[in-house]
Amino acid sequence: MMDGLAMQGKVCLVTGATSGIGLETALELARQGASVVLVGRNEQRGEAALQKVKKVGASEKVKYFRADLSSREQVRALADKFEANFLRLDVLVNNAGIFLLRRQVNSDGHEMTLASNYLGHFLLTNLLKEVLSASAPARVINVSSSAHSGARINFEDLHAAKNYNAMRAYGQSKLANLLFTYELDRRWDSSAVSVNALHPGFVSTNLGNGNGWLVSAIARLIMLIGKSAISGSQTTNYLATSSQVTDVSGKYFVEEQEVRSSPTSYDLDVARRLWEVSEELVALRS
Ligand SMILES: NC(=O)c1ccc[n+]([C@@H]2O[C@H](COP(=O)([O-])OP(=O)(O)OC[C@H]3O[C@@H](n4cnc5c(N)ncnc54)[C@H](OP(=O)(O)O)[C@@H]3O)[C@@H](O)[C@H]2O)c1
Repeated sequence: MMDGLAMQGKVCLVTGATSGIGLETALELARQGASVVLVGRNEQRGEAALQKVKKVGASEKVKYFRADLSSREQVRALADKFEANFLRLDVLVNNAGIFLLRRQVNSDGHEMTLASNYLGHFLLTNLLKEVLSASAPARVINVSSSAHSGARINFEDLHAAKNYNAMRAYGQSKLANLLFTYELDRRWDSSAVSVNALHPGFVSTNLGNGNGWLVSAIARLIMLIGKSAISGSQTTNYLATSSQVTDVSGKYFVEEQEVRSSPTSYDLDVARRLWEVSEELVALRS
C-alpha cells in the first residue's frame, strides 16, 4: 500500500461503497487524497458511509451518488450526474455485488444478480469511456470472484427463467465480470485505460444478507472465518493505486498477484458474444 497522499488530484468512483470491500476501498482512496464518489442504492447506508469516508479524507472531496446498478435508467442518470460534476475519472471500481437465494427480476425482466453484478457495470463503464480516456492513464477495476471457476454463460437462458440456482447465477455473473475485463482490454486502448479484475478472497461482509433469517444466520456463521473487509480490499487498492500495475491490463489478480482465471473466461467467442448480447440488453446502441 502507498503512503501519504499518493492519490491527490485523482478522481475515483466506487460502486457498492456503502458496505464491506467497497467501503474499505473508498476509505483507503480518500485517505490517500483522492476525490471519491461512493455509489450505492440505499440513501441511509449511503449517508452513513459518506460520513465515515469524510472523516478520513477531505470532506469536500467525498460524494455519495445514489444509484441502483440493476436499473439501466439509474445507471444512465449516474453517468450523467458524474459527468456534470467531474471533468476526469482516474479510477473506476466496479465492486457492487449481490447473492440472491431466490430469483428476482428487474423491470426489464433481467435476472437481478446478472443485472447488478455485471450488466450495470458493463453499461456504466461504457458510458464513462470518454471521461476515462480523457484522464489517461485511467484504470477500471472489476471485482470478480473465484466463484467464476466452473461457471458458464448460459446464453440459452441468461436470466435463469427456467431453472434458477443461486450459486449458478452468482458464478455466471462473476464469470461475466472476467469475460468483460478481457474483452474491454481488447476493444479499448489499454495504454489510455487499463482494466483488470480480482478475487478479494473469502471476506466477512454483508454479502448474502437479505435472503431471510436462515441464510443470513448461515452467512454470518460462515463469515466468522472470513478475512476482514480491510484485508479483502487490499487487492482492489493495489490495482487502484500501485505504480507496479500502471502498464498492466487485461489480467486477473488474487492477493496482489497475477493469476490465471478459468479456461472459459479466456474464450474469445464467448466474450464477443456476451459483449454483443449485453449491448442489446442495456440498449447501449440506441
Ligand atoms: N465477501 C466475499 O467473500 C466476496 C468474495 C468474492 C467476491 N466478492 C465480491 O466483492 C464485491 C463486494 O461485496 P462485499 O462482500 O463487500 O458485499 P457487501 O458488504 O454486501 O457489499 C456489497 C455492496 O454492493 C452494493 N450493491 C449491491 N447491489 C447493488 C445495486 N444493485 N446497486 C448499487 N449497489 C449495490 C451494496 O449496497 P447496499 O448497501 O444497498 O446493499 C453494498 O454497498 C461483490 O462484487 C462480491 O461479489 C465478495
